[in-house]
Amino acid sequence: MFSHLVTPALALLMATALALPTAGTPVSTLDESQLVSIAPKSSSCANAPFPSECRTAAQALGPILASFTTYNITTPGEQAALLSTMAFESDDFQYQINHFPGTPGQGTRNMQSPAYNLKYAMSIPALAPYLDAIQTSNVVAVLDLLIKYTNYDFGSAAWFLTSQCDQNVISGLQSGSAAGFSAYLACIGTTETSDRDAYYQRAVTALGVTTSQ
Ligand SMILES: *[C@@H]1O[C@H](CO)[C@@H](O)[C@H](O)[C@H]1NC(C)=O
Repeated sequence: MFSHLVTPALALLMATALALPTAGTPVSTLDESQLVSIAPKSSSCANAPFPSECRTAAQALGPILASFTTYNITTPGEQAALLSTMAFESDDFQYQINHFPGTPGQGTRNMQSPAYNLKYAMSIPALAPYLDAIQTSNVVAVLDLLIKYTNYDFGSAAWFLTSQCDQNVISGLQSGSAAGFSAYLACIGTTETSDRDAYYQRAVTALGVTTSQ
């Protein structure tokens, strides 16, 4: 319904804007094998239930690193938490959309609910013309915008942390403490489970997060 607005040149511009952060030093040395160690199924999309939604670690790495730069996620503790959320919520990057139970408009790699997807989309200047062309009450159209033409769906976890959580939560993750991770889970509206914790612990190991308090 808005595809007529996307010229190849504009699509390339939008993809480039996210894929190639403007300036500054790299904020992470995360590599593909570390990503696979955190999200084991991301070594391949061969068995993905919804192939069009699946991204391998090799495909996910660039958009994830770009999101760390865009949202200034510089510490291993923050990065580990975001990676664990994205990998857990998307079942190792297999899903962009909530299928179980199938809440309309819920999605992106951290499976944000529709209200946050709209806030997130509105925070991205390049999406303004596309938002103008849809009904923002159409939660499916908003989600479509975030997942269809760009890799914005890998940016929402970092956007959420930096725009929706207190500085205390960010500092807690930076410290690498267990209390910091619990406070982050509370901010994203969930609680600790052994599955979630296993993802976080794998990310902590892969990134070498150390506890400073
Ligand atoms: C980025 O994050 C680091 C570490 O939290 C902080 O010291 C720095 O001031 C931030 N930079 C910007 C531009 O916000």
